[in-house]
Amino acid sequence: MLPRTHPEPIQLLATAFLAARRAGDHVLTQLGRRHDVLCVERADVKHKLDVEAQEVAGDVIRRAWPGHALLGEESAGAPLPDSEVRWVVDPIDGTVNFFHGMPYWCVSIAAQVGGRTVAGVVYAPELGLVFDAAADTPARCNGRELRVSGTHDTRLAIIHTGADKSDLGEHAFRFMKRVAEIAQRPRIMGAAALDICHVAAGKADAYFEPGIYLWDIAAAHLILERAGGRLEVLKEFGGWRMAALATNGRIHDACRAALLPLLDT
Ligand code: IPD
Ligand code: CA
Repeated sequence: MLPRTHPEPIQLLATAFLAARRAGDHVLTQLGRRHDVLCVERADVKHKLDVEAQEVAGDVIRRAWPGHALLGEESAGAPLPDSEVRWVVDPIDGTVNFFHGMPYWCVSIAAQVGGRTVAGVVYAPELGLVFDAAADTPARCNGRELRVSGTHDTRLAIIHTGADKSDLGEHAFRFMKRVAEIAQRPRIMGAAALDICHVAAGKADAYFEPGIYLWDIAAAHLILERAGGRLEVLKEFGGWRMAALATNGRIHDACRAALLPLLDT
């Protein structure tokens, strides 16, 4: 039971829904601006709609809960107020996909109490998918309850992976190679929050990235747990960056044993 000093998860979930919907629908009405960027980097795109979507989501959250802290990808360096509730926002996860016209992108909104997500929504507007969960509700997609897969052997598993934009060489490739070696099929789709939600939905069996940020995974973490899966932070690097493994639970130890040793090389 949570202490009574903060809102119930279900109240936070209602705000997360509204914030994700408003931010995602804002971007959806602006598809003609796919190339309206602040800058294009070697392996990333800084998009004006990232900034706008975070403002839209932040506005909803601040109106509902004025004292809460808000950690957003677009303002990650800013100091946070001292608040037991922290909102974690990725306004567009999969920005490079969005820029290229691929529909695999989403808005991710999590409410955390004491550093643990208690409500999370992942909204993929172009795919028409809304994933959600609260600490005391089942995980759902478009209102339908989710359950992880029964896959118990990595050789029968789809494993999502990726590499962050600062890690494009031999280091990232080593992890991808190992994922490909243990999986039936590896997948690099380009939006971590959606990758993890697909593990929650039983359509993939695991997800691993050697360097991912809290805003990419905070909401999907809870959605996966409430669907019966497990997310483990294998290593923390500071600055909200970490190595994370998310699975259906059944192949967790095997994935961990295959990937953890590489983190120390
Ligand atoms: C990225 C996506 C991608 C993952 C990267 C993330 P962004 O987030 O989630 O799938 O491989 O590590 O940084 O930049 O599109 O919000
Ligand atoms: Ca992201």
